[in-house]
Amino acid sequence: MRIIQRPRRLRRTQQLRRLVRETRVSADALVLPFFVREGNAVREPLASLPGQIRYSPDTLHEGIAKAVAAGVRAFLLFGIPDDAAKDADGSAAWAEDGVVQQALRAARDAFPDVLLITDVCLCEYTRHGHCGHIAPDGQVDNDATLELLSRTALSHARAGADIVAPSDMMDGRVAAIRAALDTADFAHIPVMSYAVKYAGHFYGPFRDAAGSAPGFGDRRGYQMDIHNRREAAREALLDIEEGADILIVKPALPCLDIVADVAAFADRPVAAYSVSGEYAMVKAAAAANLIDEYGVLCESAAGVFRAGADILITYFAEELAGAIRKGDIG
Ligand code: PBG
Repeated sequence: MRIIQRPRRLRRTQQLRRLVRETRVSADALVLPFFVREGNAVREPLASLPGQIRYSPDTLHEGIAKAVAAGVRAFLLFGIPDDAAKDADGSAAWAEDGVVQQALRAARDAFPDVLLITDVCLCEYTRHGHCGHIAPDGQVDNDATLELLSRTALSHARAGADIVAPSDMMDGRVAAIRAALDTADFAHIPVMSYAVKYAGHFYGPFRDAAGSAPGFGDRRGYQMDIHNRREAAREALLDIEEGADILIVKPALPCLDIVADVAAFADRPVAAYSVSGEYAMVKAAAAANLIDEYGVLCESAAGVFRAGADILITYFAEELAGAIRKGDIG
C-alpha cells in the first residue's frame, strides 16, 4: 500500500523564500506613465491621481530624473493639448510641434538612454473626446481614423519615440501604423498595442487627468465587453497577425485571467496596464487607513507578474522599483 505523505513543511527563512520564488520581479519590467500638458513650468499635482504630477515639456525631465533615481527606465507619455488646439479630428496629435513631440525632444535631450513610449490616440486631442473621426451618423468611423493614427505614430517616431503604443482600439490600426512606420524608415520602431482593452469605469481618474472624457456617448462601441474572455484572445491574435511587437492587456487586476491566457499563447511579450482607477483605489483606501499602501502595491504587482505578465505599466512604478531594491518583492 502506498502511503501518501503530506508535503513536508518548509521552514521559510527569508533566504529560502527568495531562493524558491516562482516569480521574479525586476525594475527593468516597469513602465511609468506621465501626463504632459502644453505650456511652461507646469508642475500640477493631479487630484484624481494623488501623488502624480502633470508636467509640461520643459519640466518633464524633473519627473523622469526622480523616477530614474528610483530605478525606472521606461516611460509612457500622454499628451494634453490646450483646449484651443482641440478640433474635430484631433490634428494636434500629429503636429510637429505638438505637446508629445516637444516632450519627446526635451526628454531625449535630458536622458538619451531612457525608453520613451508614446500613447497613440486621438481622444485627448478631439473636441468631442472620442478616439477617432466621427462620421455623420455620430459614430466613430473606424477606417477614416486609421490614417489619422498612422500620421500620429509617424510624427512620434520622428520626434524620437522608441516605441509607439496605439490605445484607440480601432480595427486594423496596428497594420496601418506598422505599414506607415515601415515605409518611412522606422521599421525598427516597435508597436506596443493595447490589444485587449476593456470598456469600463477603471479609467475614470485618467480621463480627468488627461481631459479626455467623451463629450457624448461612451467607448463601448470600440472597447471590449468585460464579460468576454475568448474575444480577448481573438483581439490579441489579430494584433499579432497585424505585427504588434508587445501586447497590452488592461485594466490589470480585474483581468488577470486574460493576462494569463494571452501570456500562454502569445509568442511575444505581454504588458499589463494597472490603470488609473486601480491606482486611485489603493491611494484612497490607504488615505482612509483601511489598507497598507506599500504592502498592497507590492502584492498587486507580484500578482500581475505571477499571472504571466512580462511588463507592468503602473503609476506605482517608482515605489515598486524601491521595493524591489529593498528586496520586499523581487
Ligand atoms: C486613451 C487611453 C486611456 C487610457 C490609456 N489610453 C483612456 C480611455 O481609454 O478612456 C487609460 C489609462 C488609465 O486609466 O490609467 N484612449
